[in-house]
Amino acid sequence: MRLSGLHLLLTYQCNFECDHCFAWGSPWQSGTMTLRDVRRILGQAKDLGTVEWVYFEGGEPFLYYATLLKGVQEAAQMDFQVGVVTNSYWATDEDDALACLEPFSGLVQDLSISSDLYHYSQRLSQQAEHASIAADRLGIPIGVISIAQAEATDAEAAVGQLPIGESDVMYRGRAVEKLVPGAQRKSWEEFKECPHEDFREPGRLHVDPFGNLHICQGICVGNLFDTPLGDICETYDPESHPIIGPLLEGGPVELVQRYELPHEATYADACHLCYDAREALRPRFPEALTPDQMYGVM
Ligand SMILES: C[S@@+](CC[C@H](N)C(=O)[O-])C[C@H]1O[C@@H](n2cnc3c(N)ncnc32)[C@H](O)[C@@H]1O
Ligand code: SF4
Repeated sequence: MRLSGLHLLLTYQCNFECDHCFAWGSPWQSGTMTLRDVRRILGQAKDLGTVEWVYFEGGEPFLYYATLLKGVQEAAQMDFQVGVVTNSYWATDEDDALACLEPFSGLVQDLSISSDLYHYSQRLSQQAEHASIAADRLGIPIGVISIAQAEATDAEAAVGQLPIGESDVMYRGRAVEKLVPGAQRKSWEEFKECPHEDFREPGRLHVDPFGNLHICQGICVGNLFDTPLGDICETYDPESHPIIGPLLEGGPVELVQRYELPHEATYADACHLCYDAREALRPRFPEALTPDQMYGVM
C-alpha cells in the first residue's frame, strides 16, 4: 500500500448531529487526540516517506482549536500539504471568520467547508459564505463539499476522498438509522461490489484518536499506536483481511454469504448492506470492526 494522504480524525465530537453522518459526530461522543497523539501520528507519516497530504477532520476539528492550530503549524513545518474539513460553525460573521482563519494563512492548502441541507437549513449556509469570503481574503484555497439529499438521483457517487461540489449520500453510520426509512431500495443481491473504496491502493487512510487506521469508517487495517504505520502499510494484505477480503471478492453480498448472515430482501445501497453485515460481525472481528464510536455505541 502506497499512502499519499493521511486524514486525522482529531475528535469524534461535533457541535452538530447531522442525520447523514457516517462518523456519528455528536456532542455526546468521546475520543479526542492530544497534541502528543498528533505529533506521534505526524512523525509516523513522515517516516513513511510517501505521505504528501495531511488532513484534519473529525467530528468537528475546530472544537479543539488550539490542538488543531498547533497540529496544522507542525504539519506545515514538516513540509506536508495541509487540509482541514469543517462545518464552519465558527464563521458567525465575516470578521469572526477572518479572526478564526488568520492564523492558518499560508499553512493550509485546502480548506473544505461542508454545507448542505444536512448541516444547515440552506444549501449554502451563511457560515459557509462568511468562511469563503474570509478564506479568499487570506489567500487560503477553499472548496465547498455538499452532500445531495437522499431523493436526488443525479449526484455522483464519491470514490475515495469526498470531492468538492455535490456527491451522493452513503448509507453508513447514522445515515442508516436516520435516512434509510425514507430511502428507495434495491434487491440485496445487486450489491456485489464496493463502489467507493479502492481496497488494494486506497491512497489515503483515516486515523482516529485511538490510533485505529480506517480504510472506510469502521473498517480498520491496524492501529498505529500498537504497530508503526510503515509496518502496517508494508504487511497490508487485503485478500487475507476478514472484511476486506470478502468485499474484494464479491462486495457486501459476499460478506453476507461468506459468514452466513441473516439479511433483509432489499437495501438502500451497498454501504447499507455492508454496514448491517459489519454490525453483526463486530463480536467476531472486534479489531477490524472498531471502535464503538463508528457504530453509534456511545
Ligand atoms: C464527517 S464530516 C467531518 C468534518 C466536519 N464536521 C464537516 O461536517 O465537514 C466530513 C464530511 O463527511 C461528509 N459525510 C458525512 N456523512 C456522510 C455520508 N453518509 N455520505 C456522504 N458524505 C458524508 C460530511 O458531509 C462532511 O462533508
Ligand atoms: S457531518 Fe460533520 S458536522 Fe455533521 S455531525 Fe458529522 S462530523 Fe458533525
